[in-house]
Amino acid sequence: MSSSWLRFLVLFGVGVVVLLGLERVLRSDPGERNYEVFTEMAYSLANETQSPSASLPGGLTQQALVEGVVVRGRLPFRYGPGPEEAARAGRELENPFGDDAHTLGRGAEIYGIFCALCHAGDGGGQGPVVRRGMLPPPSLHAARSLQMADGEMFHLLTMGQGNMASYAAQVSEDDRWRVVRYVRKLQEGSR
Ligand code: HEC
Repeated sequence: MSSSWLRFLVLFGVGVVVLLGLERVLRSDPGERNYEVFTEMAYSLANETQSPSASLPGGLTQQALVEGVVVRGRLPFRYGPGPEEAARAGRELENPFGDDAHTLGRGAEIYGIFCALCHAGDGGGQGPVVRRGMLPPPSLHAARSLQMADGEMFHLLTMGQGNMASYAAQVSEDDRWRVVRYVRKLQEGSR
């Protein structure tokens, strides 16, 4: 066999292998394991969040928050449950919202979704749940609610009071302040 013939065979062979390889890469079946070229992309060396760690304190990858950390843009709520803490919140906290159209509109929306079922649309306390047998909540037009400071009502929505559960999980901090403004609007005729 002449050497040029041999060279042709070798090149032809290499060409076939390259083409087959390309075909495999380009038309790969997404259901099949593909070639792993840069395996560090597939098998990251970073620790998984909840995995053990050989080097970090406590042997855990996920470290506890440093004491005193707060969510950006959020003030920590440093009040416990109960009437004394509610009264203290009433003295110390101020409603960051006024009576602009957006605040009252959003407050009305929240009230309609989360409060009216018990307290009724007018705040009188005869909402649909009460008409079906639940003990009526006190009227929001009664002296206690009228005299309650915004911060105390915010505390009540955040921590709950007696038979009323906390709404902190369902209603965001800003929306709790807004719904307090809306309750004030509802109360206007009763002041
Ligand atoms: C499941 C029914 C229910 C829902 C929903 C509800 N409340 Fe109440 N609310 C009550 C009851 C019952 C009380 C009385 C709690 C107690 O002191 O035992 C109460 C008390 C209150 C008081 C204090 C009244 C007073 O005289 O002590 C305010 C203010 C208030 N709710 C506002 C709201 C707002 C605002 C919402 C919506 C975010 C809301 N509530 C949602 C049942 C409800």
